[in-house]
Formats: sequence, C-alpha cells, structure tokens
Amino acid sequence: MTSPTRRRRTRQAAPAGPDARGTEIEVEVGPVAHGGHCVARHEGRVVFVRHALPGERVVARVTEGAEGARFWRADAVRVLTADADRVEPPCPVARPGLCGGCDFQHVAPARQRGLKAAVVAEQFRRLAGTELEVTVEEVPGAGSDGLRWRTRTQFAVDAEGRTGLRGHRSHQVVAVQDCPISTTGVVGSGVLASRFGNVETVEVATGSDGAAPLVVVTPEPGTHAHLPKLPDASVAVRTAEGLHRVSGRTWVGERVTVRGREHTFRVGGAGFWQVHPGAPAVLGEAVLAALEPRPGEHAVDLYSGVGLFTALLADAVGAEGSVLAVEGDERAVRDARKSLHELAQVELWAGAVEEALQDGELTARRTDLVVLDPPRSGAGRAVVEAIAALAPRAVAYVACDPAALARDTASFAERGYVLDGLRAFDLFPMTHHVECVARFVRA
Ligand SMILES: C[S@@+](CC[C@H](N)C(=O)[O-])C[C@H]1O[C@@H](n2cnc3c(N)ncnc32)[C@H](O)[C@@H]1O
Repeated sequence: MTSPTRRRRTRQAAPAGPDARGTEIEVEVGPVAHGGHCVARHEGRVVFVRHALPGERVVARVTEGAEGARFWRADAVRVLTADADRVEPPCPVARPGLCGGCDFQHVAPARQRGLKAAVVAEQFRRLAGTELEVTVEEVPGAGSDGLRWRTRTQFAVDAEGRTGLRGHRSHQVVAVQDCPISTTGVVGSGVLASRFGNVETVEVATGSDGAAPLVVVTPEPGTHAHLPKLPDASVAVRTAEGLHRVSGRTWVGERVTVRGREHTFRVGGAGFWQVHPGAPAVLGEAVLAALEPRPGEHAVDLYSGVGLFTALLADAVGAEGSVLAVEGDERAVRDARKSLHELAQVELWAGAVEEALQDGELTARRTDLVVLDPPRSGAGRAVVEAIAALAPRAVAYVACDPAALARDTASFAERGYVLDGLRAFDLFPMTHHVECVARFVRA
C-alpha cells in the first residue's frame, strides 16, 4: 500500500486578480467530490459546483475566486439539463446563497447515498491506494425521506436576536422558522420562535428518554445573555466555569438497545452524542461485528465520549474481561462514570489519547481489541503506530471523515494492519457527511 499523500491544500481560491464572484458561467458538471460539491471545468480551471449533480448542464454563479485563481467555487443557479435524480429541495432555505447546512437537498435520498459511496471509494483510492466497492447503508430510526433525524442542532443568532443557520463558508445567519432535518423535539423547543440577546449560539439536544429538550446558550464573550422564556425545555448557559443551570436538567438521557440489551447514558450539556437517532445502535452493532469480542478479552475504547462502545464491549467481554476507556472531555468521563458504575470490568481514564497510549500502565497490559472513534481530523500517524504497538487482535475504527480514515488506513498498513472490511452509514441525510466503520487485523 502506498503512503498517504500529504500535499498542502489551499482552503480558499487565492485572490490572484480581479474578483470573479458573481460571474455566471455555463458548465457541464463532472464527478462528485469530497465536501458536498461536484467538479466542473471552465476554460481549463477547476470549478467546485454546489447544488448540482454529475452530468448536468448548469449555469453556475461564482461564489469564491479571482480571475487568475487555480480554482473557483460556484453555485448552480439555473439547471439547463437536469439529472433524473434531481428533486425539489424540501427546505425553502436549502438554496444557493442561503443556508449552508445541507448539501444534497436537491438529490433523491437513494442517490445521495450513491454520491457518498463514490466519495468514500475515491478517498481510499487516492489516500490509501486501495480499490473498494462501497455501499452507504440507510439507517433506521428516522423517515426514509431524509428529514427529522437531527437530535442535536446548533443555531446561530443574528443581529436581531433571531435563531438561524449559517450560510455556506459564511458567517451570515439565515433566520429560520423550521429546520426540516432537525427532530420535532428540537424545533418544538421554542428557540426558533424566540429572540435572544447577547447570544452567540443556541444548541438544542433531544434525548431518547422522552424528557424535555435541553437548550444550551453560549453568550457573546464578556456579556450576559438575555434569554426568552422556554417553558417546554431545560435551559443552561455555558460560562467559562462550566454549565450554569437556568431551568430543568443540564443533561440529556439516552437509551440504546444492542443485541437485545438496553443501556442508558447520560450526556451532559451539549456534550458529544451521535446526532442520528439510529446511530448509536447501528454503530454499536457494527463495532461488535468488527471486533467479535469474546468473554475474558481485554479491550481499549479510545475517544470514548460518555461510554457508548465501552458499555457494549463490557457486556461482551464479561466480568472476566476488561475495557479501558480514554476520553479527553472530563465532563464526558464524569457522565460515563454515572452511567457505567455497575460495570466493574470498566476503567475510565480522563486525558489525551496520545498520552494514554504512551502510559506504561497501558502498554504493559494485554490488549486484544481496540475501538477508536476520533474527531474529524482522524487519529494521525502517532496514534495509529501506538495502537499497532499494543498488538491487538482486531481494531474497529469509527470515522466521520473518510479522508482522515483513508490516511490512517495507509498508516495502519505501514504498521502491519490491513483493512479487513468497511461499512458506511448514512447518518447525516441531506448533507455530504458519511460515517464509516473499518475493521483492521494483523496482516
Ligand atoms: C467522535 S466523538 C466519539 C465519542 C464516542 N465514541 C461516542 O460514540 O459517543 C470523539 C470524542 O473524542 C474526544 N477527543 C477528541 N480529541 C481527543 C484526544 N486527543 N484525546 C482524548 N479524547 C479526545 C472528544 O471529546 C469526543 O468525546
């Protein structure tokens, strides 16, 4: 397997001449690319076109780029030849120049999964030198129309105090009365019909235990937030010291059933929890299937959050086995302690994964299994090398960015661990995001 390409990438079309923004060009749209756009060419220049589908002929309006720049970004504003999978976006602000939250509202849900599969395959070809047949699986727990699945949504607040969503690559806030990909619980929390003062963001989280949604407000720096009355929600304010309770609870309760057993979790504030209601069970099952844990085995859960995979693995390895969980967010570790206190085979470490993997207490132990679920940037070469040094029988890697996963796959291969299966899940319908679970074993 080849080593990963580490080319420096320009995040923005460099200003190399007169501003081209607003220029309209007619293009034939090429393949989908990572990031929610397709690739087109205009007079030899690459143009990343949003709101389009491969094979379409569109008029695209340039949104970023200058005359001499290597590439432009653009929005398809008129469709001259439409693909058969083009649909009317269900959300009125999922349009060029408006909300940047959804990338694929103009695409039928099954085709969205096809586009994501093509992106995952392309990232593995480019960054891991691996040819893969990828299928992106639909996830139960929400409707098959791709709407009302998001159990956690962060809203921005505009100058008038209205909640909304940001434009694509923009600070502009588009005020909204609804967000059709968010659950009715999020929308029903009342934040979209309210006005806030001195507030930067309003996060709403709904749990699966049926309790009222939790609204976490972050004030503008150095100010005190003015809050509306939200009788149908718990409310907390994020301060430098932590979460300040205004009303109700400062946490959300989650229930997950995997292999016939129900687990309950407490997720403090707007702490990390998968946003699709079907995600915890589907990912939990995929991790168990990838690791095939046996009673008495010893597992390590890296980037463990509030302990979702820790609990499932603890069940599977039983009282004779062990699970060591490592998580950097101390509040998440406290939540895990509350949820998992009955499992004597679980040990929770608060701290950086990078440091834990160098700790003699861990490196001297027998480790049979590792699950890792890093943030978007991936684990990185040093973490991958340290995992391989533990010599586990199998590794399950849960990834929300296929590019980072493909890069880390190349690092695993260099350390003698080969990719032995990959599943991809549509946990974020209407957006370009896709979640993967990869299994690695010793070559
Ligand atoms: C994608 S979440 C996964 C959480 C958990 N596995 C789950 O499914 O709920 C990533 C977690 O890694 C934690 N994290 C990020 N960087 C870290 C690091 N360097 N060391 C330890 N934890 C880290 C974050 O706080 C977050 O809880």
